[in-house]
Amino acid sequence: MTLLQELESRLAAALTATLGEPTTAAVTAAADLRFGDYQSNAAMVLAKQQKTNPRALAQQIIDHLELTGLATADIAGPGFINFRILPEAYAARAVALLRDERLGVPATGAGKTVVVDFSAPNVAKPMHVGHIRSTIIGDSLARIARFLGFKVIADNHIGDWGTQFGMIIYGWNHFLDETALAENPIQELVRVYRKVNAIKEDPGVLDACKSELVKLQAGDPENLAIWRKCIEVSKNGLQKIYDRLDVKFDHWLGESYYNDRLPGLVEEFLEKGIARESNGAVCIFSDASKPLEEDPFKVHKEEGWTDNPAIIRKADGGFLYATTDLATIQFRIDEWQADHVWYVVGVPQQLHFRQLFDAAARWGKTGDFKHIAFGSILGDDRKLMKTRSGDNVGLIEVLEEAVERAAKAIAEKNPDLQGEEAAQIAETVGIGAVKFAELSQGRLTDYVFSWDRMLALQGDTAPYLQYSHVRIRSIFRKLDAPFDATAAEIHLNEDAEIHLARLLVRFGEVLPTILEDFRPNLLANYVLELARAFHSYFEACPVLKAEEPIRSSRLALCELASRTLKQGLNLLGIDVPERM
Ligand code: ARG
Repeated sequence: MTLLQELESRLAAALTATLGEPTTAAVTAAADLRFGDYQSNAAMVLAKQQKTNPRALAQQIIDHLELTGLATADIAGPGFINFRILPEAYAARAVALLRDERLGVPATGAGKTVVVDFSAPNVAKPMHVGHIRSTIIGDSLARIARFLGFKVIADNHIGDWGTQFGMIIYGWNHFLDETALAENPIQELVRVYRKVNAIKEDPGVLDACKSELVKLQAGDPENLAIWRKCIEVSKNGLQKIYDRLDVKFDHWLGESYYNDRLPGLVEEFLEKGIARESNGAVCIFSDASKPLEEDPFKVHKEEGWTDNPAIIRKADGGFLYATTDLATIQFRIDEWQADHVWYVVGVPQQLHFRQLFDAAARWGKTGDFKHIAFGSILGDDRKLMKTRSGDNVGLIEVLEEAVERAAKAIAEKNPDLQGEEAAQIAETVGIGAVKFAELSQGRLTDYVFSWDRMLALQGDTAPYLQYSHVRIRSIFRKLDAPFDATAAEIHLNEDAEIHLARLLVRFGEVLPTILEDFRPNLLANYVLELARAFHSYFEACPVLKAEEPIRSSRLALCELASRTLKQGLNLLGIDVPERM
């Protein structure tokens, strides 16, 4: 049980005793530590219902509160109940956490399966900034969910089918450079695609592309072979990026995986009256199956949504993104028994997902579907980030530059580090910096990308956090014998050490809240606060120079801080170097 849950259960007992009937109420972490660690507005809410004086009711509740050894409680303002946790209660919890692999994090996801659909770039198109955000946010959410006990299926729903393949196959036949393809497949496919794109106004080229596409869709063996090769080289190229980012997928079921299911799916939608024909196309209209007053799109219209139907089959017989996504939902529910499906995709696809979830519901596919949207990354000019040549910035360029800059900074700070070790550290620091810059932002806000800000050793950065971890570990390197933290007692006297313990104990309370609204930035804030609390503690409380039993107590707190910081960073997908 977390401390917060413990307080809630004590409060429930007191409320039940006071009111004479089973009653529960929420406790929250206090926003301002001057008033205590936790608080509840239960007395105010209940007094209103019962038309009594809230402060008097709060006093009655406090009289019934059994908090011995745990906390003290008092009344504040109009009737808040404030709880102040006793230092010995924090100490006891810290001792327990040192013996707990899960660091006090409850398994809130046990027994539930969640599919996380993230990254999902399109073959032969460069991974752009949107895919960077999706990859980093999605990976972190998958890690957090896994740690909370969910069965997580990370699925890379790559765009490996679609009209672009007419152009790619034409380009493959006319412009492909085999050596370049072997060296950098993604770049070469993109080059070929762009080259065709530039000349597609030529009617001859356009027709040729269309006929390659028709051949591919009809199963022409030669075109299918080219298509397969494109997918294979793209996957290999992407895998290298994911390896570097330490991002793992359980499956890569791209759009093409669902091709066979699409014709039957459209027929089913027509039969069930969920979709109908309009100008030759099969569309899901808001009024397709329900009388108007139940029209789910009415809400959308009031919110300013358009009533464009979702098209699932074009007049020419072709299927669309929405058709594939419906087949994908069915597969995930039927084959994987998914309870939740989280789509980490940019804001521009909001309408697509609203329509998709509505159509799935009418189809009887029930589950908790969430579109986890995010804003854009902006350049210094506050416009969409572009390279000097005016292209969208690719993920690889960003990673490479981050690592290069980290290497320079490390060489300046610590010239002793050389060769392979220095390169390793630069990789960990550079990539950590990119991830943290992303994850410390609210996902819906557009953020301005700044190299200097994200690589600074001071401030809200990954290097600061990684350095904090190195700093804690360096204390243990000075010891003659390994320190057994599970054997230590913890005594908390100084404010700085009480505060550090308070934050450490809160880890298990913070983590589940991240999934309430899918905000890894809450975890980013938490680890920053933890690192700052550690530095204040380390300044105020000598560790190695202290007398026993304080020395062991403080070492144990250092150990717990280092584990919690490392685990928190790991859940953001950020690694920690040994030295830097
Ligand atoms: N390939 C798409 C894009 O790059 C993203 C796919 C997201 N996943 C999904 N199931 N629609 O825009």
